[in-house]
Amino acid sequence: MFASVERFEIIPDITRIIEPNSSELSTNKREGSLSMKEEAERIGMPEHWRPPKIEGEWGNKSFISVEQLTANDFAEIVNMATRIRDTRMSKEQRALFELKSWLFPLSMQTAFYEPSTRTRTSFEAAAQILGLDVVSNPDMIRMSSFSKGETVADNAIVMGEISPVIVQRHPEVGAAAIAAFALQSMTRCDGTKPRVINAGDGIGEHPSQALLDITTIIWEKRLKNANDLHRLHIGMLGDLKHGRTVHSLTKSLNCMGGPAVFYFISPEQLSMPQPIIESLTRGGQSEVVVTGDLAEVLPSLDVLYVTRIQNERFKDLDECRRYENLYRITPEIMERSKERFNINHPLPRRGEIDPRVDSDPRAAYFRQVGNGVDVRMALLCCMFDRPYPNFRNWYK
Ligand code: CP
Repeated sequence: MFASVERFEIIPDITRIIEPNSSELSTNKREGSLSMKEEAERIGMPEHWRPPKIEGEWGNKSFISVEQLTANDFAEIVNMATRIRDTRMSKEQRALFELKSWLFPLSMQTAFYEPSTRTRTSFEAAAQILGLDVVSNPDMIRMSSFSKGETVADNAIVMGEISPVIVQRHPEVGAAAIAAFALQSMTRCDGTKPRVINAGDGIGEHPSQALLDITTIIWEKRLKNANDLHRLHIGMLGDLKHGRTVHSLTKSLNCMGGPAVFYFISPEQLSMPQPIIESLTRGGQSEVVVTGDLAEVLPSLDVLYVTRIQNERFKDLDECRRYENLYRITPEIMERSKERFNINHPLPRRGEIDPRVDSDPRAAYFRQVGNGVDVRMALLCCMFDRPYPNFRNWYK
């Protein structure tokens, strides 16, 4: 069990907002459907359109990118997730009862055009614990009218009539922005505006994963404030080019002031996209090390965030196979790392972490999955404008 982090503080002088990086709309075409660029033209969405910044006001806004958040927005989610985790870990049945009706009788839809285990189920579990009704669409490609040629934009509008929040995953960059733009002029019969949460858009972003990854680092390392974050040496390993989780996590850490050093460890062909690296060096808070050599940097690392080679993003599978066995975390590698080291991974894994590592207490990747429920509960509370209270104070 973790030690409780009572309140994670952002030190005012590092509450910087990073400016959005442009992310190109995908021009990939799938049989019988429009590309995201064609969808944008069809609904009149300007190039590089983004929903508004959150800046403490989550209500009525879609959440498609960590670039919408300030450092204080991250801290709000971390602190609320910590309160939720404490409540869920307590024996107080009354608290659990209260929890089950916190957002009743609202509803949430999941719309997944790409497979998922963790993101969809943890959003659905989070919603159910909060008393939301859940409408689940785990296979939009085959089991929705998308298969008959309905666009992502029209699908979003239809789902927005049914539920005020849609959690959407899609294999193409820009699909979340298309849905958010299509929803922005809608008002539901109860006066609320439907919104979308980006649960992953191709190689673009996975912002709720970044929230849970940041929270996991803070909980595992028992950090009290963002200055503690600046002491960490954080490595990211694997397919940093196609991995949307590492894109969102890097931008998020930078927004919170950054670790002491970012280590981007990958083969040169799969390196972190240059615009993301440039946005970090512009901020000037963190040193950046780009390397292919894990052994060289391993002894310095406090956290290593491992990712798999994203085989579904390669056109040439032979090329993909060349990278698959380059890195493998084994018990022998763990022996060469710091005593208070942590391994994170968004999962699923392939061969990059040996299952023998699972029993090492420093392997945090399965705990990371569980944290997703608390964090997504916090996110839903914010998006429905019902910040979760501190139950422990209620009992005093
Ligand atoms: N971490 C993550 O996005 O996992 P899923 O693809 O299973 O949702």
